[in-house]
Amino acid sequence: MLLIVAAVALALAIVYSIARSIASYQRLAHIPGPRWAAWTDFWLVRNQLSGKLNFKLHDINSRYGDLARIGPNWVVCGDPGEIRRIWAARSSYKRAYWYRGLRMDPYRDSTFSTLDDAVHNELRTKMLPGYGGKDVDGLHEAIDAQVAAFVKLLEDKYLAGNPAKSHLPYRTVDIARKVQFFTLDVISKLAFGDAFGCLAADADMFDYIKTTEHTLPIFVTVALLPWMIDLLQSPYMRPLVPNVRNMVGFGTVMGLAQQAVDGRYSEKPVVKRDMLGSFVKHGLSRDEAEGEAMVQIVAGSDTTATAIRATLLYIITNPQVYARLQREIDEGVRAGRISSPISDAEARRFPYLQAVIREGMRMWPPATGLLPKFSATDDIICGVRVPAGTSVAWAPWTVMHNKAVFGEDSYQFRPERWLDAPPEQLRVMEQTAMLGFAGGSRYECLGKNVAMIELNKIFVELLRRFDIVLVDPTQPWNSTNAAIFIQSDMNVRITRREEVVEA
Ligand code: HEM
Ligand SMILES: *[C@@H]1O[C@H](CO)[C@@H](O)[C@H](O)[C@H]1NC(C)=O
Repeated sequence: MLLIVAAVALALAIVYSIARSIASYQRLAHIPGPRWAAWTDFWLVRNQLSGKLNFKLHDINSRYGDLARIGPNWVVCGDPGEIRRIWAARSSYKRAYWYRGLRMDPYRDSTFSTLDDAVHNELRTKMLPGYGGKDVDGLHEAIDAQVAAFVKLLEDKYLAGNPAKSHLPYRTVDIARKVQFFTLDVISKLAFGDAFGCLAADADMFDYIKTTEHTLPIFVTVALLPWMIDLLQSPYMRPLVPNVRNMVGFGTVMGLAQQAVDGRYSEKPVVKRDMLGSFVKHGLSRDEAEGEAMVQIVAGSDTTATAIRATLLYIITNPQVYARLQREIDEGVRAGRISSPISDAEARRFPYLQAVIREGMRMWPPATGLLPKFSATDDIICGVRVPAGTSVAWAPWTVMHNKAVFGEDSYQFRPERWLDAPPEQLRVMEQTAMLGFAGGSRYECLGKNVAMIELNKIFVELLRRFDIVLVDPTQPWNSTNAAIFIQSDMNVRITRREEVVEA
């Protein structure tokens, strides 16, 4: 008897789950996409784990159109105009559950992970002045100090002899790593008040980089599976799940965040005119401040490092661009229009430098998370009906290589496009490229200002001093994608330039 009941129950459960799968399949059956993706999230999981999801989504758009289905409840959109509309300040879209998976601390939200618009808005309002550098003293000087430390590290340890004259010393350097030391030192200095000191030690302090490289691919994969997020973040799982607080890299850095924040909220609070000080002044709670300091490190180091690496790679592999940029810098130095180091304001006045930076961010957008949003009502995207509740991801590679926006040669690194475009097209190009920072949306990157200061300085300070070539152009780097990029082995030979132009 019991056996029969069990068998019937099992049969019913199977029928129910098949019926559910079919219903879920049919909801978006009118949207083209890879066959298996329509039935199971494991298509997305597998591609996320492949380290090539950014390219895969672009392939999908090329094959199925700018709106394609990539999961039972997922679509991806590669149309710049539609993405701008969906992310816009007054749009009816909200963050999908994916963001919950981005909680650094499984039991607490940050700007990055909160699904609640009101909370998100309030946090942003409290942090905008600090991120904008408004009540922060010495923001630029803090970055200058790290630029100097970066140059010093290269000069002290990694300069090679001029190969035309002698082969000694023969030295190469994995510039991908050193660039990350630079961005980590900048962001830790700004977020905590003290730089990690990666550049000074020439080391991955606290194993932070090693830890993120191991954990981020898992984080962003879990984020694809709502039931997995709930399971891992459930209080009942607390004893079983490895807590990031106890992990070597994250835990140590969270400890540093806690230390930095503690001082500001103690009996005799330390009052400083830095970013944290600004957050405190504008009413961030102790808990929030701790979480947001940590967010800065995670959101601001790998992204900016990728922008620097990719742009540098495009520069040194395009001789015309390299020569023109170096000429612009040299002439600027000679004319006394470039201080040492170059100031942010000065850098903005060099059109070719600005074009190179934009073109780099366009060709290789550093932040490639799915960033899914959903609408509470049905919507039409790219002319196709998308039912309420569907997660709409963006395809950064499709957006940034759109030919109508950037021209027929959109797959080429050609900074000149930013100088040649007529004003109306330039406006659209600018808006589209800035989507790399979620620009113009209510999710716009809070650290854009900081990142742009870094970019405005770093290429000038490198190229005014050094010549940089790839050791092996057939293997420029090792780059894998996990929402951000994990990049290493960008081995270059750096020599001091023959005619160094001093300021
Ligand atoms: C080139 C470098 C960078 C790129 C490409 C980039 C890109 C992005 C993108 C696309 C978002 C939006 C995510 C979403 O839609 O939810 C974002 C958000 C954010 N970024 Fe950046 N970022 C960069 C550097 C930085 C830096 C240096 C910091 C810190 C100083 C930072 C802090 C943040 C924060 C706090 C948010 C959350 C904003 C919110 O949820 O409202 N980013 N960034
Ligand atoms: C490239 O980097 C990835 C991720 O860090 C690593 O798993 C892989 O072994 C590296 N490949 C090579 C050829 O070094």
